[in-house]
Amino acid sequence: MTKSRDAGVDAAKSVEERRGFLASVLMWSGVALGYGIGAFHFLRYLVPLGEKSRYRELFVGPVDQMEVGQSRTVRAPNGDSYVMARTAEGYRVLSDICPHLGCRVHWEPDKDRFFCPCHAGVFDPAGKATGGPPAEADQNLARLETIVRGNSVFVLIKEV
Ligand code: FES
Repeated sequence: MTKSRDAGVDAAKSVEERRGFLASVLMWSGVALGYGIGAFHFLRYLVPLGEKSRYRELFVGPVDQMEVGQSRTVRAPNGDSYVMARTAEGYRVLSDICPHLGCRVHWEPDKDRFFCPCHAGVFDPAGKATGGPPAEADQNLARLETIVRGNSVFVLIKEV
Protein backbone atom coordinates (compact mmCIF):
# COMPACT_ATOMS: atom_id res chain seq x y z
CA MET A 1 0.00 0.00 0.00
CA THR A 2 2.77 2.49 0.84
CA LYS A 3 4.67 1.54 -2.27
CA SER A 4 1.74 2.29 -4.54
CA ARG A 5 1.09 5.51 -2.61
CA ASP A 6 4.72 6.53 -3.05
CA ALA A 7 4.47 5.69 -6.75
CA GLY A 8 1.38 7.89 -7.02
CA VAL A 9 3.12 10.78 -5.24
CA ASP A 10 6.16 10.37 -7.51
CA ALA A 11 3.94 10.36 -10.60
CA ALA A 12 2.18 13.51 -9.42
CA LYS A 13 5.51 15.19 -8.74
CA SER A 14 6.75 14.16 -12.16
CA VAL A 15 3.65 15.63 -13.85
CA GLU A 16 4.05 18.83 -11.85
CA GLU A 17 7.71 19.08 -12.78
CA ARG A 18 6.88 18.61 -16.45
CA ARG A 19 4.17 21.25 -16.21
CA GLY A 20 6.58 23.62 -14.52
CA PHE A 21 9.22 22.95 -17.15
CA LEU A 22 6.70 23.47 -19.96
CA ALA A 23 5.46 26.69 -18.36
CA SER A 24 9.05 27.92 -18.07
CA VAL A 25 9.79 27.07 -21.69
CA LEU A 26 6.65 28.89 -22.85
CA MET A 27 7.34 31.90 -20.66
CA TRP A 28 10.97 32.25 -21.77
CA SER A 29 9.99 31.70 -25.38
CA GLY A 30 7.51 34.55 -25.08
CA VAL A 31 10.09 36.78 -23.41
CA ALA A 32 12.68 35.96 -26.11
CA LEU A 33 10.14 36.59 -28.87
CA GLY A 34 9.07 39.89 -27.34
CA TYR A 35 12.63 41.13 -26.89
CA GLY A 36 13.54 39.84 -30.36
CA ILE A 37 10.74 41.80 -31.99
CA GLY A 38 11.64 44.87 -29.96
CA ALA A 39 15.32 44.55 -30.92
CA PHE A 40 14.41 44.08 -34.60
CA HIS A 41 12.35 47.28 -34.66
CA PHE A 42 14.99 49.18 -32.71
CA LEU A 43 17.72 48.11 -35.17
CA ARG A 44 15.47 48.93 -38.10
CA TYR A 45 14.95 52.37 -36.59
CA LEU A 46 18.71 52.85 -36.29
CA VAL A 47 19.57 51.43 -39.71
CA PRO A 48 16.61 51.75 -42.08
CA LEU A 49 17.75 49.07 -44.52
CA GLY A 50 15.68 48.48 -47.58
CA GLU A 51 13.89 51.82 -47.30
CA LYS A 52 13.96 52.83 -50.94
CA SER A 53 12.13 55.71 -52.47
CA ARG A 54 8.95 54.60 -54.10
CA TYR A 55 7.74 56.00 -57.35
CA ARG A 56 4.33 55.98 -58.91
CA GLU A 57 3.62 56.17 -62.61
CA LEU A 58 1.38 59.03 -63.59
CA PHE A 59 -0.30 58.95 -66.99
CA VAL A 60 0.27 62.28 -68.74
CA GLY A 61 -1.13 61.70 -72.17
CA PRO A 62 -1.33 59.64 -75.32
CA VAL A 63 1.66 59.68 -77.67
CA ASP A 64 -0.38 60.37 -80.79
CA GLN A 65 -1.86 63.60 -79.44
CA MET A 66 1.46 65.43 -79.15
CA GLU A 67 3.60 66.44 -82.09
CA VAL A 68 7.31 67.16 -81.88
CA GLY A 69 7.67 70.76 -80.68
CA GLN A 70 4.43 70.82 -78.70
CA SER A 71 4.25 71.25 -74.94
CA ARG A 72 1.67 71.14 -72.23
CA THR A 73 1.41 71.56 -68.46
CA VAL A 74 1.37 68.46 -66.27
CA ARG A 75 0.13 68.63 -62.70
CA ALA A 76 1.35 66.13 -60.13
CA PRO A 77 -1.07 64.93 -57.40
CA ASN A 78 0.80 67.06 -54.84
CA GLY A 79 0.07 70.21 -56.89
CA ASP A 80 3.53 70.66 -58.42
CA SER A 81 3.37 71.62 -62.06
CA TYR A 82 5.68 70.63 -64.86
CA VAL A 83 6.06 71.47 -68.49
CA MET A 84 6.06 68.47 -70.78
CA ALA A 85 7.62 68.97 -74.19
CA ARG A 86 8.03 66.58 -77.06
CA THR A 87 11.44 67.13 -78.59
CA ALA A 88 13.10 65.32 -81.48
CA GLU A 89 14.82 63.12 -78.85
CA GLY A 90 11.64 62.22 -76.99
CA TYR A 91 9.55 63.54 -74.12
CA ARG A 92 10.94 65.94 -71.53
CA VAL A 93 9.06 66.71 -68.34
CA LEU A 94 10.65 69.45 -66.29
CA SER A 95 9.52 71.63 -63.43
CA ASP A 96 8.00 74.81 -64.80
CA ILE A 97 9.25 76.75 -61.79
CA CYS A 98 12.50 78.55 -62.48
CA PRO A 99 15.09 77.72 -59.80
CA HIS A 100 16.34 81.33 -59.87
CA LEU A 101 13.37 83.22 -58.41
CA GLY A 102 10.38 81.04 -59.19
CA CYS A 103 8.94 82.43 -62.42
CA ARG A 104 7.16 80.15 -64.87
CA VAL A 105 9.35 78.49 -67.48
CA HIS A 106 8.01 77.58 -70.92
CA TRP A 107 9.19 75.49 -73.86
CA GLU A 108 10.41 77.25 -77.01
CA PRO A 109 10.35 74.63 -79.77
CA ASP A 110 11.93 76.85 -82.42
CA LYS A 111 15.01 77.33 -80.21
CA ASP A 112 14.90 73.84 -78.67
CA ARG A 113 15.09 75.21 -75.14
CA PHE A 114 13.14 76.04 -71.99
CA PHE A 115 13.02 79.75 -71.27
CA CYS A 116 12.28 81.87 -68.22
CA PRO A 117 11.11 85.35 -69.26
CA CYS A 118 11.78 87.04 -65.91
CA HIS A 119 15.57 87.33 -66.25
CA ALA A 120 16.17 85.50 -69.53
CA GLY A 121 17.02 82.16 -67.94
CA VAL A 122 17.77 79.52 -70.56
CA PHE A 123 17.71 75.74 -70.10
CA ASP A 124 18.54 73.00 -72.56
CA PRO A 125 16.01 70.22 -73.29
CA ALA A 126 17.38 68.17 -70.39
CA GLY A 127 16.81 71.07 -67.95
CA LYS A 128 20.44 72.13 -67.58
CA ALA A 129 20.80 75.87 -67.17
CA THR A 130 22.73 77.31 -70.12
CA GLY A 131 22.10 81.04 -69.87
CA GLY A 132 21.08 83.87 -67.55
CA PRO A 133 21.20 83.88 -63.76
CA PRO A 134 20.33 80.15 -63.40
CA ALA A 135 23.42 79.20 -65.44
CA GLU A 136 25.64 81.51 -63.36
CA ALA A 137 24.34 79.83 -60.18
CA ASP A 138 24.29 76.32 -61.72
CA GLN A 139 20.55 76.01 -61.00
CA ASN A 140 18.94 73.40 -63.22
CA LEU A 141 15.29 72.55 -63.65
CA ALA A 142 13.96 69.58 -61.70
CA ARG A 143 13.25 66.75 -64.09
CA LEU A 144 10.86 63.81 -64.06
CA GLU A 145 11.68 60.53 -65.76
CA THR A 146 9.33 59.62 -68.57
CA ILE A 147 8.22 56.21 -69.74
CA VAL A 148 6.55 55.57 -73.07
CA ARG A 149 4.49 52.40 -73.07
CA GLY A 150 2.49 51.68 -76.16
CA ASN A 151 0.57 54.83 -76.98
CA SER A 152 0.83 56.24 -73.45
CA VAL A 153 3.32 58.55 -71.79
CA PHE A 154 3.90 58.28 -68.04
CA VAL A 155 6.10 60.18 -65.62
CA LEU A 156 7.56 58.78 -62.43
CA ILE A 157 6.37 60.72 -59.37
CA LYS A 158 8.17 60.19 -56.08
CA GLU A 159 5.78 59.17 -53.33
CA VAL A 160 6.11 60.99 -50.04
S1 FES B 1 13.32 83.83 -62.22
FE1 FES B 1 13.92 82.71 -63.95
S2 FES B 1 15.73 83.67 -64.56
FE2 FES B 1 15.16 84.72 -62.82
